[in-house]
Amino acid sequence: MKLSHIGNTDLLQIHNLKINNNIIFAKCEFQNPSGSHKDRTFLHIINSLEKKSVIQPGMTLVDCSTGNGGAALAWIGREKGYKVKIFMPEGMTKERIDQIKKYGAELIETPKEQFLNGCVEAASKFCINNISTYYLDQAGSELNMEAWYQCGNEIVDQLKEKGVSPDYFVCSIGTGGTFSGITKVMKKAFPSLKAIGIEVDKSAPVYSKVNGLYFEHKPHNLMGLGAGLLSKNTDLSLIDEIKVIKGDAAWERMRSFIEEEGIGIGPTCGSNLLITERLMEKVNNKVIVTLFFDSAWKYQSRWNGIYPEYL
Ligand SMILES: Cc1ncc(COP(=O)(O)O)c(C=O)c1O
Repeated sequence: MKLSHIGNTDLLQIHNLKINNNIIFAKCEFQNPSGSHKDRTFLHIINSLEKKSVIQPGMTLVDCSTGNGGAALAWIGREKGYKVKIFMPEGMTKERIDQIKKYGAELIETPKEQFLNGCVEAASKFCINNISTYYLDQAGSELNMEAWYQCGNEIVDQLKEKGVSPDYFVCSIGTGGTFSGITKVMKKAFPSLKAIGIEVDKSAPVYSKVNGLYFEHKPHNLMGLGAGLLSKNTDLSLIDEIKVIKGDAAWERMRSFIEEEGIGIGPTCGSNLLITERLMEKVNNKVIVTLFFDSAWKYQSRWNGIYPEYL
């Protein structure tokens, strides 16, 4: 596993998903070495801060995560000679906790009641009180969105190689870095592209804002989405439509897709698939691009999608 293996993931056409003559491609970010899209995010954030001499090896890098970002940072940080400390809400999957520890990072679990906001508070406090530490802040740092331009460029090149122009990009929003970075690049290359964002119904700040609704965070089972705040990395001007998804439906679609296709994807890939399929029912002869964030093995111990701490 090398840092040079991050990126250049496949753009997979899902031939068996045939609805109304539409074509669907999925960018396979689960192929990244630590098993998720967050490898790109943290490699870019760390490289950029090193170039600006803000951080240097030997320091302790800190961030908050429900698992994927923590694992990516733990691995990349170790490879580059940093100590890593991850703040994580209690009750995340055993596989992701074990992975972070296996890469040698220190893991601090914060109480479930405050979910990710509790992690942000604890991480900020730790960095204020300790020298030689740096809070990377994937939710607030615009380096997150920037990390995704490269993936956007890959998608554009892969589509051009196949000789197709996309009509839609469909992608779930957590920090929004993935959605916004890719959409920005794709819209530049294909100006008529429509971008559809997805949030979990129980914690949907963009959906609430767009529809003039009061936003309230409620516990849910789509870790990686619905952090409880609107991140700076979600560029509202890039969103053509925002949809919400029920957590259980996304888990169910993940399981059925794995059975149908034998491709090991995670629950938020299930959300992307479901919203893409709903779109395919309504349109004809369109090319739709979506994304598979992470790998099924990260959820093996919670296969029923139940997080007892977050019911
Ligand atoms: C499993 C999973 N899906 C989707 C996302 C959303 O990615 P982003 O934060 O770039 O919006 C995350 C983010 O942590 C995630 O872990």
